[in-house]
Amino acid sequence: MGHNQKIKWLMCIASVITFIYLLYCTYETGKTFHHWIKYNEAIASPPIVYELHVTPNSSPEHAVPLGPYTSLAAVKGTKTLLISAYLEHRTDEKQVRVIAVVLRRENVAYRCLFRCQEKQLLSNGSASIHRDHFGFAYGTADIMCPLPSGCETPSSIAVTSAAANTTDDPNQEFLEVKNQQEKTESFPYNFTVCISTMFDFTNVLQLVQSLEMLQLLGVNRVVVYKTSCSPETQRILDYYTHKGLVEVIPWSLSRYVNVSRSWLPEHGPGELHYFGQIPALNDCLYRYMYQSRYVALHDIDELILPQKVTSWVELLPLLEKKYGANKCYRFENHVFPINFTLSPPASQSLPPQADWKNVPGVNILAHLYKEPVFIETRSNFKVIVNPRVVFSTSVHGVLKSQHGCTWIGWNIARMYHTRSPRQIHLTKEKLIYDGRLLNYSTHFTPAVNKVLRETGLLPSTDSL
Ligand SMILES: *[C@@H]1O[C@H](CO)[C@@H](O)[C@H](O)[C@H]1NC(C)=O
Ligand SMILES: *[C@@H]1O[C@H](CO)[C@@H](O)[C@H](O)[C@H]1NC(C)=O
Ligand SMILES: *[C@@H]1O[C@H](CO)[C@@H](O)[C@H](O)[C@H]1NC(C)=O
Ligand SMILES: *[C@@H]1O[C@H](CO)[C@@H](O)[C@H](O)[C@H]1NC(C)=O
Ligand SMILES: *[C@@H]1O[C@H](CO)[C@@H](O)[C@H](O)[C@H]1NC(C)=O
Ligand SMILES: *[C@@H]1O[C@H](CO)[C@@H](O)[C@H](O)[C@H]1NC(C)=O
Repeated sequence: MGHNQKIKWLMCIASVITFIYLLYCTYETGKTFHHWIKYNEAIASPPIVYELHVTPNSSPEHAVPLGPYTSLAAVKGTKTLLISAYLEHRTDEKQVRVIAVVLRRENVAYRCLFRCQEKQLLSNGSASIHRDHFGFAYGTADIMCPLPSGCETPSSIAVTSAAANTTDDPNQEFLEVKNQQEKTESFPYNFTVCISTMFDFTNVLQLVQSLEMLQLLGVNRVVVYKTSCSPETQRILDYYTHKGLVEVIPWSLSRYVNVSRSWLPEHGPGELHYFGQIPALNDCLYRYMYQSRYVALHDIDELILPQKVTSWVELLPLLEKKYGANKCYRFENHVFPINFTLSPPASQSLPPQADWKNVPGVNILAHLYKEPVFIETRSNFKVIVNPRVVFSTSVHGVLKSQHGCTWIGWNIARMYHTRSPRQIHLTKEKLIYDGRLLNYSTHFTPAVNKVLRETGLLPSTDSL
């Protein structure tokens, strides 16, 4: 090789390395920017509108940029709103499932635009609207996008409307395709609880109590879809986020649709059921599908307590043995009304606790009497599922799964729902004592006190 030729070679190699490095930098900057945005949304309280439009500030001309991705995107020329995208491994034909909110009366021919390595490929998407829309104008939908041939691992996806002819839009927003790897074992979490649509939330004491109880039950992760909350609540969420228990997903669709504050159009005006609870729950199910062995879908004022064993870790093997594996397990809803504050019977005693009176919110230990069984005991049940056998979910139970659901006997486990009364004319004589929670109090009370002290909601012991 001549001297000149050698220099040419070296220059060539150097420019390839520089190019790869620049590409990497763009990707990292994008990721950091995205995280930064997410972080700021999470700490801003209360964040009303989710800032969504993240566009790459620079992208190398010769390569398809890898990110950043948008977290929520409107499909131009339609009323469709895209929430998130997941690779679906369980169908015969591999596809990407895009969880969306759609105007039910609008008929859209969707085009899916995939980014596969350095190619962009198209396929036709088909939407199916979940049947649980509660009569609102908008509903949750899955837009299924079959993988085009030669595209096994798409990194990101955009959905457009065929009619709008926007396929070549340079500002097209792409969603990251998550769940790239299918897994059947060794998940980082055993139990994840999905808490949907936290809004105007101020119930700090019950939040801490529930999060501590959940940990005693064996829960490793709690996902909170948050619209708005008080500064004290935010402090608690930040505390648990830092500990690794909680993941907060900022959740506000209000820029795109008028969300209802209720579950029926006649109870709360709006175009979408209850702050978009259904798309949040479905997103959570898919987000944790390959991260968590089981997923529980219930609210922060609800606790599923086993009656014969102490934790969910012990409970689930029992249920699988008795009712069959991979079912969705339904737990009865028992209401503990908060407007009665009654002491336990003389034979039982409350554990010594720090003074919780000045902490805003409900103290679940003060409400150990429940309403008798009524219609909602069975209609407002909640579930624990193996997320990998579920295709779609609603508020009370799953809509579509591989193995169906089964009721869990109330003497094996049931749900303790500490809230405003549901049978409003009951007198206290009609209420039934159920002190199961007290079985946990040796660990529970000190754990709650510790968190309240560490977050400044109780004076620290040093200053006493
Ligand atoms: C997509 O749908 C259009 C009609 O909207 C049709 O012409 C085209 O062949 C379809 N493409 C594929 C790959 O099915
Ligand atoms: C889409 O737009 C391009 C120009 O942006 C045009 O050439 C093409 O004919 C349009 N296609 C349809 C189906 O309208
Ligand atoms: C998950 O549960 C198993 C018992 O089934 C236990 O050994 C393991 O430590 C748990 N993992 C976590 C992350 O809690
Ligand atoms: C929500 O409703 C109001 C009043 O009905 C309307 O002006 C507004 O455009 C709607 N917003 C969206 C995003 O649809
Ligand atoms: C509890 O609340 C219901 C209505 O929410 C009310 O009718 C009832 O009188 C209340 N009971 C007490 C003891 O406050
Ligand atoms: C739990 O508490 C009940 C009374 O509420 C008691 O009868 C039972 O023995 C306790 N169980 C355990 C395991 O501590």
